[in-house]
Amino acid sequence: MVYAAFRSVGSYIPKNILTNEDLEKIVDTSDEWITKRTGIKTRYIADKEESTSDLGLKAAKVAIERARINENDLDMIICATISPDFFCMPSTACMIGKKLGVSNIPSFDISAACSGFIYALAMAKSFIESNMAKNILIVGAEKLSAIVDYSDRTTCVLFGDGAGAAIISATEKKEEAIIDVNISADGKYHDYLITPGCGTNNPCSEEAIKEHACFMKMKGNETFKVAVKTLTNDVIDILKKNGIKSENIDHFIPHQANYRILNAVANALKLKDEQVVMTVSKYGNTSSASIPMAMSDLYEQNRLKKGDLMLLDAFGGGFTWGSAIVPFSPFN
Ligand code: UT7
Repeated sequence: MVYAAFRSVGSYIPKNILTNEDLEKIVDTSDEWITKRTGIKTRYIADKEESTSDLGLKAAKVAIERARINENDLDMIICATISPDFFCMPSTACMIGKKLGVSNIPSFDISAACSGFIYALAMAKSFIESNMAKNILIVGAEKLSAIVDYSDRTTCVLFGDGAGAAIISATEKKEEAIIDVNISADGKYHDYLITPGCGTNNPCSEEAIKEHACFMKMKGNETFKVAVKTLTNDVIDILKKNGIKSENIDHFIPHQANYRILNAVANALKLKDEQVVMTVSKYGNTSSASIPMAMSDLYEQNRLKKGDLMLLDAFGGGFTWGSAIVPFSPFN
């Protein structure tokens, strides 16, 4: 039997910092409002000439090095993003492959918004368990600053740029195996979190640009309510299904959208503060990159050890959602 093991994680944080005080100068907002409602203090913004694949590439290189493999050992690249380098094609995964210097391996993007990293994990697990791949690079990379409307205070204070990546490899050791991944969606909420223009539904035009339709729009409060309920039920279900108690989880690593959402889910699970990984104050919401960025921080702080059990949980536009129970299984 072949299993899928989570071998390594890496991240890349762009160098430009955007503080709440900076945003106070752009829109009618305040550090007090942003902090109280979201927990966000800063977010990081990519350079103009840095594309999403540049961010993903840098995170991928760290993950590859930490997995003690090299680029040529990869046999698949999956990139989760809602801010791809190019509209339609080529995929950001293809661009990461090109920049890594690897070719002739399947490379493709996944569009599942903030749940994208868990969707990519589910795909990697399936490809490995069906013997179609041995070492898969999964990336969550976002240059959200390119699709944020900096005249809309209801969204621009929330999002940041960044990337995270992981190596998922084949193993015969059951104790190293990813225990379970659950992914799901419900398109009836498609207009709660949406980029209404510049797709085939409303192609790019002078009017679409004038209406700021090519930027993200969110019904924040409505999204908040569905997010809390869905994220909570999702993790309760996956723990129950696998007979694992919340006290046995070493690190709860949720998508970082809002500290109030994270606290509500953590309280429902009766998790202790030290079990909950919270990076939203530093990075804001980086969509598909937020979980691997948070995980990489944990690793760099020497808090993620071999055998530690991680519980992942994400929710995003679509709506999509997903959860996973993952032991950290580096090669040594
Ligand atoms: O990552 C994918 C999933 N995303 C999420 O799960 C995000 C879910 N939503 C949220 O995190 C929260 O709903 C927000 C942080 C987006 C908003 O917080 P809220 O407590 O739901 O606020 P609200 O939208 O109900 O707005 C409350 C008030 C409104 O004013 P009135 O109508 O009460 O006068 C807004 O106009 O706050 C106002 N407001 C702001 N004020 C200052 C909205 N944005 C701002 C702002 N600064 N940036």
